[in-house]
Amino acid sequence: MNNSIFAWIKDVNTNSTLPTATCEFIVSGDVVIKAITSFDVAHHCNCYPCLAQINVSEDSMGHAVIRSLKPIPIDLVEVDYLRWTALLRTGKEQLVGRFFKLLSMITVQELAPFKDFILSKPFILEKFMLSKASYQHHHSVEHGLFEHSVEVAEITYYNAKHLRHSELECQTGLVAGLFHDIGKIYPMLISGKNQYTAGPHESYSFSILANPLGQLGTYNSKVFSLLAALLSAKPYGYKPRYALEYILKQADRCSAESNYARMNFTSLPNHYDFTRVDGKTIYRLIEQT
Ligand SMILES: [Fe+2]
Repeated sequence: MNNSIFAWIKDVNTNSTLPTATCEFIVSGDVVIKAITSFDVAHHCNCYPCLAQINVSEDSMGHAVIRSLKPIPIDLVEVDYLRWTALLRTGKEQLVGRFFKLLSMITVQELAPFKDFILSKPFILEKFMLSKASYQHHHSVEHGLFEHSVEVAEITYYNAKHLRHSELECQTGLVAGLFHDIGKIYPMLISGKNQYTAGPHESYSFSILANPLGQLGTYNSKVFSLLAALLSAKPYGYKPRYALEYILKQADRCSAESNYARMNFTSLPNHYDFTRVDGKTIYRLIEQT
């Protein structure tokens, strides 16, 4: 084990006379992991219990050792962390930490209503976490929409940062990435059933986000215009007005096509380096052993 993971920090114990400290954390479920860490690492975690991004490995005796620990500044309690990780129990639990880290990165005042919206509507967040992103094209499994949305938000934000867009544009791109497909859960919200149904999801997204969009529109019309353009952006056949729309479109397409390729190789033997789907050939490189 030598991983950077998200975990719920339950307890941290330090003793000023010792260079080491102890820590208890949960990744998911009810398994509490006891770990050792340094006094310096523990000293930086003064707000536990909390969600944190940790780098953890094992020593020669098999003990968990926390190498670094970074608290995620988000309004979350243990019972909710356990609820959401239980919902994504099929190996996708880390998406919960990635999602809340993205929300914690929304710091500009204009965009705060979107963070408040999703944190105060657990029934919407639950459908968002459960839904597929499509019938068959990409992320077409349970939790697929949530995984795709987190991927698009991360790629959009970090690519925009790398290309030196302003923090306001980067965070607007992050919000758009997270919620660009949220309209896909509209039929589930109306019917109350956890069944994906295709529809005009761009329009549905505006319906679900009506309140935070309204608040943004009255507070800052320029940011509203950018976010509205981003939420309307389609990955194919669409003419953008803002540079950020290209970044979001690319992120959307990268996430979708990468998942589509991975999905089509899943059931094939490891030595297959190409496959044909609907008359189209998809290639991949194989690690040489
Ligand atoms: Fe998408």
